[in-house]
Amino acid sequence: MKVVIVTPTYNEKGNIDRLIPTLENEIFPQIKNHDMNILVADDNSPDGTADEVRKLMEKYKNIDINSGEKQGLGAAYIRGMTYAVEHMGAEVMFEMDADLQHDPQKIPEFLKKIDEGCDMVIGNRYSDGGSIPKNWPFMRKVFSVVANLFVRTVFMKLSVHDWTGGYRALKKEVFLKEKEELTNYKGYIFQISFLHKAIRDGFKIGEVPFHFSDRNLGRSKIAPLGYITEVFKFVISTRIREVIMGKFGKFLVVGGFGFIINFAVLKILSDSFGWNHSWANLTGAALAIFSNYNLNNIWTFGERKVSVLSSYLFKMLQFYATSAFGVIFIQTGTIFLGDRFIGEGQFSFILPIKYYYVYFVIGTGLLLIWNFTIYNKIIWRKKPH
Ligand code: GDD
Ligand code: MN
Repeated sequence: MKVVIVTPTYNEKGNIDRLIPTLENEIFPQIKNHDMNILVADDNSPDGTADEVRKLMEKYKNIDINSGEKQGLGAAYIRGMTYAVEHMGAEVMFEMDADLQHDPQKIPEFLKKIDEGCDMVIGNRYSDGGSIPKNWPFMRKVFSVVANLFVRTVFMKLSVHDWTGGYRALKKEVFLKEKEELTNYKGYIFQISFLHKAIRDGFKIGEVPFHFSDRNLGRSKIAPLGYITEVFKFVISTRIREVIMGKFGKFLVVGGFGFIINFAVLKILSDSFGWNHSWANLTGAALAIFSNYNLNNIWTFGERKVSVLSSYLFKMLQFYATSAFGVIFIQTGTIFLGDRFIGEGQFSFILPIKYYYVYFVIGTGLLLIWNFTIYNKIIWRKKPH
């Protein structure tokens, strides 16, 4: 396959001078089954990195350069990868820093994973066989480790260890699929958002552990505090959006609609038909549950929809039973326990608030968790394949 190592540069004259010959003379000769090339994505570096690259281009024929305005690391990658695909025919691309912090000896291992069917291979500094520089100051190590742990846990993707790193290999299909959405991520946050979208879209991810060495020449362009804030904001806002737009959000909408049905039926049967309130409410609740069941079945859990009549009826029965259990034991139970052990009273917050309102809100919160868990894990559980 045609492989292009895309390396972004901003003032890396001294480093590119060493990286390119290493790749050409030591690494590429080891790789027999791929056509290896290099693209330098330079942002008109004032130190003359581009002139250095042009000199090397005379010596090595598999190198190209793509220059542009400085807009950040992510922007340079998007521009460079687009160029690699459109002008160099890249089928596989590497992300690799120019400052020799990414051990070039690992390139064959990345390619092996691609050959084995991975779509995107991530260099990993945080598990066996990987590391961050020993001589980094303590706080820098802590930030590096904690930031990655944070991203892994919030995204609930513990199996991927290194989210922020910039040593990767990927098939061009991954880039082309995510490119449009990535244009907003011009800086270092590009790395997390790219990986996140690739996982979301079901691309197969592999990992290669490596030792991240320290920079010898030049300086890092990252602004640590700004970067950490950006990571935090990106991860939290992305996760909140996913939860709201995902199953849980739909479940809340369906439940809200059920609540309206319940109340409307209660009111109509009571006020217009003179029903006793309790019967009117029971009827309303029964209809609301019916609506909830069907809307969850076709919408919230649409891709696990039950349609065979016998299991549709059986699951509806389950749904009524677990809903009733939740209302009686969890929601009502919370109010009961609150009254019993904390007491009845009221406090003032803008308006007077009776304690039992609070018990109701907590009970309803617990009820929602109970219902969602039962629906997800029992009624519409994923069929094992
Ligand atoms: N073209 C271009 N434009 N290149 C840039 C820019 C830019 O705005 N900013 C940085 N680069 C280049 C650098 O010249 C270097 O080759 C590479 O991108 C990495 O930049 P560094 O400034 O050395 O980053 P770092 O070592 O602090 O960060 C590394 O580790 C981070 C995770 O800890 C990189 O691998 C990051 O991608 C990674 O997120
Ligand atoms: Mn660096």
